[in-house]
Amino acid sequence: MAVDGDKKKKCLIAGSVSGLLVIMVVSVAVVTSKHSPNENQIRTTTKAVMAVCAPTDFKEACVKSLLDASPKSTEPLELIKLSFNATIKSINDSLKKASEDVKPKADKDPGAKGAFQLCERLMIDAIDDLKKCVDREFSVTQVEVYVEDLRVWLSGSIAFQQTCLDSFEEIKSSLMRDMVNIFKTSRELSSNSLAMATDLPTILPNSNITGLTGGLAKYARKLLYTEDGIPTWVGPHARRLMAEAPKEEEEDHQ
Ligand SMILES: *[C@@H]1O[C@H](CO)[C@@H](O)[C@H](O)[C@H]1NC(C)=O
Ligand SMILES: *[C@@H]1O[C@H](CO)[C@@H](O)[C@H](O)[C@H]1NC(C)=O
Ligand SMILES: *[C@@H]1O[C@H](CO)[C@@H](O)[C@H](O)[C@H]1NC(C)=O
Repeated sequence: MAVDGDKKKKCLIAGSVSGLLVIMVVSVAVVTSKHSPNENQIRTTTKAVMAVCAPTDFKEACVKSLLDASPKSTEPLELIKLSFNATIKSINDSLKKASEDVKPKADKDPGAKGAFQLCERLMIDAIDDLKKCVDREFSVTQVEVYVEDLRVWLSGSIAFQQTCLDSFEEIKSSLMRDMVNIFKTSRELSSNSLAMATDLPTILPNSNITGLTGGLAKYARKLLYTEDGIPTWVGPHARRLMAEAPKEEEEDHQ
């Protein structure tokens, strides 16, 4: 009887172990079959995102913002437009956060209050310039004019954001640090968008940097041969932002 009992126990254990195994195998199969069609898609998307992020200074922010925006296309131009959209959203979100966190403090001091009001206008201008980039339709034959416009608007957007922070710096406001922290990502994404737009002629299928002719060739050479890696046409404000190491800026204004 005792032997029988042991056998039964063993059978029970064996039975439940194999039952568990079956459940595990089945659930692994379910999980795999659920994810495997997606996995290739994710890998392809990630690859495309990393390619357009390659020329940027803040690659981590670049990759994260684009993947978070769930790209529907792996076309470089679509991804770059998505980056403009992500930048607009980031500035908008940051402005909202600043209105909640910084504005109440700024309101207590006339100088800071004025700086904050100026900032609100500047950030809206920064968004407007980015919106022009999103709205711009173009064909590949017009790439020269297109890139020219993009770089004007993008460096405009960067300059507006820098001017906002400068207005706090000028009055030596302690709120400068809060503003720098809040707008950190949006400034990084703006700089990234400019880097991508600048690199556009080299990634568009119909443009061929060695085979380029005329004005675009001159423009491409100009981009390729700058001393500090920042295109020569970038103004002093934007240049300062682009050259700034992200850590330094927080230490500068303590
Ligand atoms: C960017 O945003 C605009 C307006 O919300 C939208 O029409 C457009 O499709 C978006 N572009 C991409 C590439 O997501
Ligand atoms: C910015 O955010 C507000 C809500 O805070 C929204 O109503 C508005 O459409 C957003 N604008 C852009 C350009 O995303
Ligand atoms: C790029 O230009 C070179 C030199 O003109 C040419 O040999 C090559 O086929 C071009 N490649 C493409 C993809 O057009």
